[in-house]
Amino acid sequence: MERVRTVGLLGGGVIGAGWAARCALNGRDVVVCDPDPEAERKIGEVLENARRALSRLTLAPLRPAGRIRIVREIEAAAEGADFIQESLPEQEALKTALLARADRAARPEIVIASSTSGLLPSRLQAAMAHPERFVVGHPFNPVYLMPLVEICGGARTSEATTDRAAAFYRSLGMHPLRLRKEIDGFIADRLMEALWRESLWLVHDDVATAAEIDDAIRFGPGLRWAFMGTFLIYRIAGGEAGMRHFMAQFGPALKWPWTKLMEVPELDDALLGKIVEQSDAQAGSASIRGLERLRDDCLVAILQGLRAQDFAGGSVLKAYEEALYAEASGGRPAAPDLAQPLRLHETRVEPGWIDYNGHMTESRYLQVVGYATDALFRLVGVDAAYQAAGLGYYTVETHLVHRREVAVGEAIHVTTQVLGADEKRIHLFHSLWRTEDGTLLATAEQMQLHVDAKASRACPARADIQAALARLVAAQHHLPRPREAGRKIALAPLAG
Ligand SMILES: NC(=O)c1ccc[n+]([C@@H]2O[C@H](COP(=O)([O-])OP(=O)(O)OC[C@H]3O[C@@H](n4cnc5c(N)ncnc54)[C@H](O)[C@@H]3O)[C@@H](O)[C@H]2O)c1
Repeated sequence: MERVRTVGLLGGGVIGAGWAARCALNGRDVVVCDPDPEAERKIGEVLENARRALSRLTLAPLRPAGRIRIVREIEAAAEGADFIQESLPEQEALKTALLARADRAARPEIVIASSTSGLLPSRLQAAMAHPERFVVGHPFNPVYLMPLVEICGGARTSEATTDRAAAFYRSLGMHPLRLRKEIDGFIADRLMEALWRESLWLVHDDVATAAEIDDAIRFGPGLRWAFMGTFLIYRIAGGEAGMRHFMAQFGPALKWPWTKLMEVPELDDALLGKIVEQSDAQAGSASIRGLERLRDDCLVAILQGLRAQDFAGGSVLKAYEEALYAEASGGRPAAPDLAQPLRLHETRVEPGWIDYNGHMTESRYLQVVGYATDALFRLVGVDAAYQAAGLGYYTVETHLVHRREVAVGEAIHVTTQVLGADEKRIHLFHSLWRTEDGTLLATAEQMQLHVDAKASRACPARADIQAALARLVAAQHHLPRPREAGRKIALAPLAG
């Protein structure tokens, strides 16, 4: 797949900032064009929310974050880009004109996509010199968490462009859904608008308040929609006879005068006032940023729940994590000085790693030293093929010692000493350091046992892995034995 290193973003509002966060947190450098003097602050806040959400969403080794630069001219965002995503205000004339400018400035072979919620791509590409490289990639808010991106080509969009856009979005952990036909509003917005129209009528006619309508969704069908959508749920509702029975039973009701979908209530001051008042009452004192974080936490909970089922949005998350793990193990680390403790893992303390005390939560220590252990395995030849054969090391014992508090945002790294190894075991000693000033934050002593997972038993490692480990042990033999190594937990006075 082609490598997209730099993404040019046109517009850095709600959606543009979301793209900036998703791209940057997936290792892409981002250049955002937005004239808003507050753009940097706003994008920074969205990035912070995204970091927090992503660090709660997954334990997989995230890609090193890319940089975000803000510029004022469309050309400055377009020139060096390997992919362009436009998220300008939903005005056809503005988008068409600025897309044509970006098209002139960008390299001719790169894809230019638009986040438009419903404008037709055939019209947006009209003024472009290279319309074949234009496609709609319609995301959902928050872009950094929602998997769906609807892809819709216009009359002059090439098949290759749609393929390349889909591949890029997939590499960001998204689920591209290709439209078969070009239509206003695409698929999801048409569905959401139908619901929205009905909701406005229900408020207008005093049938229900904003909060009651939301309750009707979130305690009911909304829970099912999150994983099965409408058709599959109705199929089940038809009982053993499935969809045919469901349609026989409920089909005739479609002709009853239930809906007012073809009409829109007059959005006069009275209705607007009512909607705003009810929405204010529903939200209470919650701020928008607070609601955003609540929304993100709930989305994370749903996606994690679905990941355990390997279903719907959870399958997308699972595939994304597998890609991250595969990338992290894709090659041996650069040859380090074997005679010193090996510096094999560096990271930053993410907001989601912090517990109620404001310090790094215990499980994250295991995660961080776990990555260092994985890197050591790769160094001695335990690769993906070896693991796919069911062979590898399991951690059978860990002793963590916490030396200093570890705070959010700190850059940390791990050094690893190999205290010993035999045909089946490795005795490791990890030290976790604050990178900025070299303070020792924690240590973790571990025993790793080599296993044949298919046979469910311990067994000797492959000869070359044993030999690599033996070389490491010999090279590090001169290092002083760490003070905490072999220490037991007891109430007796501590030695040293
Ligand atoms: N908000 C959503 O939920 C949502 C969801 C999916 C898609 N979209 C689509 O995404 C696009 C952007 O929507 P949004 O909600 O982010 O809007 P927004 O108003 O939050 O952001 C638009 C940004 O464009 C910037 N801008 C205006 N003129 C510009 C110019 N000449 N050059 C560069 N930047 C300029 C503005 O300063 C602003 O930051 C729209 O096409 C919208 O339909 C929105």
